[in-house]
Amino acid sequence: MMQGCFMKTIGIGLAGFGTVGAGVYENLERHRELIAERSGYSFAMRRIVVRDLQKQRDVSAPASLFSSRWQDLLEDPEIKIIVELIGGTTEAFDLTMAAIRSGRIVVTGNKALLAERGAEIFALASECKVPVFFEAAVAGGIPIIQSLRDAFVGNRIESVHGILNGTSNYILTRMQEAGLDYPEALAEAVTLGYAEADPTLDINGWDAGHKAIILAALAYGFWVDPTTIRVEGIDRVSAADIHFAKSLGYCIKLLGSIREKNGKVEVGVAPTLIPLGNVLASVNGVFNAVAVRGDLVGDSLFYGRGAGRGPTSTSVIGDLVEAAHVLDAPRGTFGFAPHALYGSSRSSSEIVGSYYLRLSVDDKPGVLALIAGVLGEAGIGISSVVQPESIAGVETPLVLMIHEAAYGAMCAALAKITALGCVKGEPVLFNVETFS
Ligand SMILES: NC(=O)c1ccc[n+]([C@@H]2O[C@H](COP(=O)([O-])OP(=O)(O)OC[C@H]3O[C@@H](n4cnc5c(N)ncnc54)[C@H](OP(=O)(O)O)[C@@H]3O)[C@@H](O)[C@H]2O)c1
Repeated sequence: MMQGCFMKTIGIGLAGFGTVGAGVYENLERHRELIAERSGYSFAMRRIVVRDLQKQRDVSAPASLFSSRWQDLLEDPEIKIIVELIGGTTEAFDLTMAAIRSGRIVVTGNKALLAERGAEIFALASECKVPVFFEAAVAGGIPIIQSLRDAFVGNRIESVHGILNGTSNYILTRMQEAGLDYPEALAEAVTLGYAEADPTLDINGWDAGHKAIILAALAYGFWVDPTTIRVEGIDRVSAADIHFAKSLGYCIKLLGSIREKNGKVEVGVAPTLIPLGNVLASVNGVFNAVAVRGDLVGDSLFYGRGAGRGPTSTSVIGDLVEAAHVLDAPRGTFGFAPHALYGSSRSSSEIVGSYYLRLSVDDKPGVLALIAGVLGEAGIGISSVVQPESIAGVETPLVLMIHEAAYGAMCAALAKITALGCVKGEPVLFNVETFS
């Protein structure tokens, strides 16, 4: 029973009743009273859209609510907020644009949609003065969107670093802690349900890539073109490299890096060596974390679960309440405020970073001089060289730590190094991030 203040009921429509959509329905029901007491709003589910009306569901809802046409959401004038949880970038785009045009506030968890078509979506949102909220799209239950957009609005954001994909982080953690190789750790993640049967976007880095683009948009006010950023997954990380990195005082994480440097914005996702003493090194298993550095706030760390029913529906329900507030008192911004204060992004080949380069070489004198010669010609300095013992899968390893080189120059030098007769197999190049 609502105590004290006045309570309002708002009609909503849900597109998608899968992992997240069914969780939103279930948790809106479970915590109906709690949400009403804490927010002053009650949400009335008026329609649920799915692809397959015959499918057995593990969460039950009245059959009369279901439809297989998303257009039905638009045809009910009592639906004021549309929750898009179907995924993908085609029908989800059509639904989102149609919803905005019809004046419905959109709540979405669709990172791919925003990363690829965010500029069009928010241009329309601004034209129609209809917000789009997307807390569930990045790092599941961690309130990083609202924090970057609202809580840190008074800061120049210097950098955002994130462990943004729980599946990859689980696999890397198991490789680090149990000494598993990549295929074994991936198989374990699939068996335990931490990875999809088709985990392509998780392990090729693009799930994290989409999230990094969204974080960059919030921090710097524009949408970076996904085709211009470097996104690498964890499939080339081996137990051997985890072992070598550890002996140098690092662990390997799939790190999303977003920063502003000398007037340009840099965005990328790649396996990255992180000092073992850094707080992000202790983010393990399926957990996510986002470290934000602002000029006023300094360093802040957000940590929590990045996926699953409870965390993602937490974020969607938070957005529903925010949308309800907007229905009562419209705001001047629409979920994302584009601006031109940071100019443009830097191409991945021009981004200067530090690297871990691991080669397998012939065991004979003069090899290091040849490699150092190629790097020297390219103006690339070596900060340290280690020749560890051979271990399974890597004969006569040679590890070079490279300080401050442009990625394009590094790749060009690497092509020459690979062609040297004394270098065997594919070299391995990972970023090194010291957060200084
Ligand atoms: N899973 C997570 O932990 C998580 C976390 C953060 C964000 N997200 C994002 O949330 C969104 C949903 O993810 P999910 O894991 O819940 O996906 P999911 O389990 O695959 O569920 C998708 C739902 O959408 C329905 N659907 C798909 N295409 C449709 C169409 N054209 N018309 C009508 N209904 C359609 C499906 O219907 P049927 O049930 O009939 O097949 C299903 O109910 C995605 O954008 C995802 O990236 C997911």
